[in-house]
Amino acid sequence: MKALKIASTNALLYLLFQVLLVRSRADGSTLNTTRLDCGVRKLALEFAKSINNDQGALRHVFDALRLSDLCRVQYDEEDIIASTDRKLRHVEKMDTCSKEKCTYVTSKASDKDVNRDGSIDHPWHSIHEAIEFARSTPKFRTIVLREGIHYLNGKTLNLDQRDAGMTIRGYLGEEVWISGGIPLNVDFEETGNGLFQANISDLLQEIHIPSLVSLFTTNRRYFRARYPNSNPEIDQWGYASFGRDVYSINGKYAVEWHKPKPSSPPNITFVDLTKSNAGIPIKNNSAMPGYNWYTNGYGGSCAKVWGDNPSYWCSNSCQGGWAFVDAGCAERGRPQIPVGLSYNLTAQATKDFKMKNLSGGILHAWHSQSWALHMFNITTHDPINGKLRFGKGGGRQGARNWCRCDECTYAGLWCGQHQTPSWNDERLIGGSWIIENIFDELDSPGEFYFDKSTNMIYVKANSTMDLKDFKFAILDRLINIENTSNIWISNIGFKDSSPTYMKEMSAPSGGDWSLHRGGALYMERVAKITVNNCTFRRLDGNAIFLSRKTRHVTIEDSRFEWIGESAIATWGQTKEFDATDNNIPMFTRIIRNIFRELGIYQKQASAVGHCKAALTTIRENIMFNMPRAAINFNDMVGGGDIVERNLIFNTCRESGDHGPINTWDRLPFLTTLRDGVNASFDPLVRAIRKNFIFANYGASQGVDNDDGSSWYHVYKNLWYASMGFKMDYGGHDSIFEDNLVLSYPYDGQQCFTMDSFNRNNFTTNAHIVRRNRCFIGLGNKMSSGCGDPTCASPYPESKESLELIGTHRDTCSNAKLVLSSNKYFTPSGQGKIQLDDGLFTLEDAQTKCGMDTNSTVETLPNEMQILESVREMIREMNENNRNMFFESRDPSSYN
Ligand SMILES: *[C@@H]1O[C@H](CO)[C@@H](O)[C@H](O)[C@H]1NC(C)=O
Ligand SMILES: *[C@@H]1O[C@H](CO)[C@@H](O)[C@H](O)[C@H]1NC(C)=O
Ligand SMILES: *[C@@H]1O[C@H](CO)[C@@H](O)[C@H](O)[C@H]1NC(C)=O
Ligand SMILES: *[C@@H]1O[C@H](CO)[C@@H](O)[C@H](O)[C@H]1NC(C)=O
Ligand SMILES: *[C@@H]1O[C@H](CO)[C@@H](O)[C@H](O)[C@H]1NC(C)=O
Ligand SMILES: *[C@@H]1O[C@H](CO)[C@@H](O)[C@H](O)[C@H]1NC(C)=O
Ligand SMILES: *[C@@H]1O[C@H](CO)[C@@H](O)[C@H](O)[C@H]1NC(C)=O
Ligand SMILES: *[C@@H]1O[C@H](CO)[C@@H](O)[C@H](O)[C@H]1NC(C)=O
Ligand SMILES: *[C@@H]1O[C@H](CO)[C@@H](O)[C@H](O)[C@H]1NC(C)=O
Repeated sequence: MKALKIASTNALLYLLFQVLLVRSRADGSTLNTTRLDCGVRKLALEFAKSINNDQGALRHVFDALRLSDLCRVQYDEEDIIASTDRKLRHVEKMDTCSKEKCTYVTSKASDKDVNRDGSIDHPWHSIHEAIEFARSTPKFRTIVLREGIHYLNGKTLNLDQRDAGMTIRGYLGEEVWISGGIPLNVDFEETGNGLFQANISDLLQEIHIPSLVSLFTTNRRYFRARYPNSNPEIDQWGYASFGRDVYSINGKYAVEWHKPKPSSPPNITFVDLTKSNAGIPIKNNSAMPGYNWYTNGYGGSCAKVWGDNPSYWCSNSCQGGWAFVDAGCAERGRPQIPVGLSYNLTAQATKDFKMKNLSGGILHAWHSQSWALHMFNITTHDPINGKLRFGKGGGRQGARNWCRCDECTYAGLWCGQHQTPSWNDERLIGGSWIIENIFDELDSPGEFYFDKSTNMIYVKANSTMDLKDFKFAILDRLINIENTSNIWISNIGFKDSSPTYMKEMSAPSGGDWSLHRGGALYMERVAKITVNNCTFRRLDGNAIFLSRKTRHVTIEDSRFEWIGESAIATWGQTKEFDATDNNIPMFTRIIRNIFRELGIYQKQASAVGHCKAALTTIRENIMFNMPRAAINFNDMVGGGDIVERNLIFNTCRESGDHGPINTWDRLPFLTTLRDGVNASFDPLVRAIRKNFIFANYGASQGVDNDDGSSWYHVYKNLWYASMGFKMDYGGHDSIFEDNLVLSYPYDGQQCFTMDSFNRNNFTTNAHIVRRNRCFIGLGNKMSSGCGDPTCASPYPESKESLELIGTHRDTCSNAKLVLSSNKYFTPSGQGKIQLDDGLFTLEDAQTKCGMDTNSTVETLPNEMQILESVREMIREMNENNRNMFFESRDPSSYN
């Protein structure tokens, strides 16, 4: 875990110090980071073209790489078309569907007639009707949706065993959407100032209204009226985001986050797996004893926040960075998740609250270390004293407790510890916050407020055209697929779902995540489900959710854009540490998708949130623009996953202490996947290979192998603005080889950083780091919040600090990390390794400690030579890869 670092930037500083962006090298020549950065960005676009041929998506990649404004590269449409056309396989142009198998659904009122029979001329009026028909006439296994928006009118589509073998698809060449909303065909009345209102009681009859609704137009998201004003789709307010204090209220204006009263401590499950327990194999391969334990807590004070599911973070024995905070909460029976807030009555940012009706509002506040956003339902507001009280279920959106001023060294400057005279301050530390769903804050175009008690909707319209185009989102689950198999869904867009962040949430396993078991497309106990060529755009909860047991679910050639929470999340089920019944998602394939602009509301969200699942393949996806990790491995249940040939950049934009691929492995699970028979705590290896990853925005490493992460094989990856291999705490049995690492200074974990390994068996459990090339000290420090060298620190790091190629927490005579045949490049041409008993030159490490044999350190070459290595690496990454476009599409599915 790293300490929080706030980046500072400012255009003037940038201009003043631009000359320093050119790093002087020992031989007096220079490395131009502008040219290096632009060169890497251009090559990232080339790599994108080699893994995806969606022209529209490639345009977004071009924009997100900022090739135009940072590098003055013109968008070359013809080049994109030429490069993608070459890869297009045969695409069906005509929709041919046999009359005997296909049944049609229209979205248009004008096509609706009473004599409907599902034929192309007399289509069904709703997907529900078509499904009823197909169930009664089983030879009809293909439902074809015609052009337009198919509204579900408040009724989730439930597919079950009767629907096995079904295809639901859009008519070829037509734009087809399924909406979780209802169209607001009402007349709005203008009340002045661009405000409009409508009574929608009549529309809502017999429709279940969730506690939080959303509002969309065809191409826009409206948002619950908020303070401060911002557009949540684009404005970032993470702890190091440059616009943080514009788009949110600084944490210091929370005078006090009220702690809940103590109640009964949770019951604890605890098994020390290093001791022999009847019938359970021993696990003692982590050098951190706590990662050889299985533990969780449930009931009592814990249930008051996270409900009935047991949570690792409710145990008094949980482990990891700041876990003592969570363990202490368990022991005291007092979660550190606030139940109210006293805000500052006089500060500019908050003084107007006392005039406003805030009850019914939702307060969003960052965890004190920006690990998650926690939401609280405001039930009462005492304006005289500036006090808010929160309702039940508040704050469970992250699995970790907040720190108190007296517990955490990073305590805010406003904490009593920092005052003169100082006092022992036990208040909770929270990050920046906002309030939404407040009628009195309806003042900015794009905002709305829905009053559930009167069914009145109020909007501050951005354009009067929007008034005719509203979709009122009331469903968070559009399609529910359970107990069935062989379903094919393609050429369909999904939109307009309502948010789930105020619904049940709890910790799926030992990672930091809290998760809601739900999504717009939800699957449980299913096999062979394919989602192909679909678009998931502007959904407020998770887009796709795989729950408990799923097999062979394929999600391919699809687009995920502007998603409120995660794009794809999984959450299997285990019996405590026993996963041998494989009641988890297995053989999931996530291929050639585009994931962008995710985590709009819950910022602890990812393109793939991988919780309790095994044997997942994540291949040739492009993932960018999100607040936290692109892929989050919350645990290791079974393993055997493959992450390959993905392009990942602009992640962790709003949070720190995280990576583009982030992994945690704090809890052991028993699996039989190694040989299919014998239960063991050793999972299959998880491979991460041939990926092109930017760890910009201070995302530290391409793969942040955090607490306990073990059994990784990370090879042939290209990492930019990234440090090398990380194993800070208790990991073992991983291999990091043949990677190319381009590292800007960050926090000194330059090419590798290793904790110690299990002394009983370090010869077998130690990590192996070999044949990597690490280019160290490429420019100045790029901290959290900073995505490219133009906002790097103006001050160069010291020559000495950039000579540190790696650290290993063990002594020279004991160091068993297996290092060899690496090539290091540093500005001075010198390399040093930090061991527990001293700082050793590479040569001393080799001769005295027997470490890093056959490795070399040289002076950093210039940017042109580095770019040549990058090009060469991409060539290698592209070798032996079949052209995989549409490889899995089954033409028979069109019938
Ligand atoms: C670095 O490269 C950029 C882009 O080619 C160029 O505009 C700039 O002048 C170079 N800087 C120096 C100091 O050479
Ligand atoms: C994907 O779906 C769109 C409609 O949404 C359609 O126009 C296009 O032809 C489909 N692509 C393929 C390869 O089937
Ligand atoms: C909204 O319309 C319903 C039904 O038409 C009516 O009963 C109700 O009083 C109206 N509400 C308001 C606030 O005007
Ligand atoms: C702990 O477990 C005991 C025995 O099952 C039960 O009586 C008690 O209510 C539980 N405590 C909590 C806090 O859930
Ligand atoms: C409220 O904010 C003002 C202005 O920043 C500050 O001077 C004052 O000390 C704050 N009051 C409290 C109670 O924190
Ligand atoms: C807010 O809390 C109240 C009382 O605990 C509850 O009735 C209401 O449903 C909650 N609202 C949301 C959006 O969760
Ligand atoms: C308002 O409309 C303009 C023009 O279409 C658009 O650029 C802008 O982003 C919109 N604002 C919001 C908040 O949707
Ligand atoms: C070390 O690991 C090997 C291979 O897994 C195993 O056979 C041996 O028993 C282990 N030794 C100890 C002391 O745990
Ligand atoms: C030494 O390292 C180079 C690459 O860095 C490798 O090709 C060679 O095989 C290594 N030699 C030994 C003996 O490991």
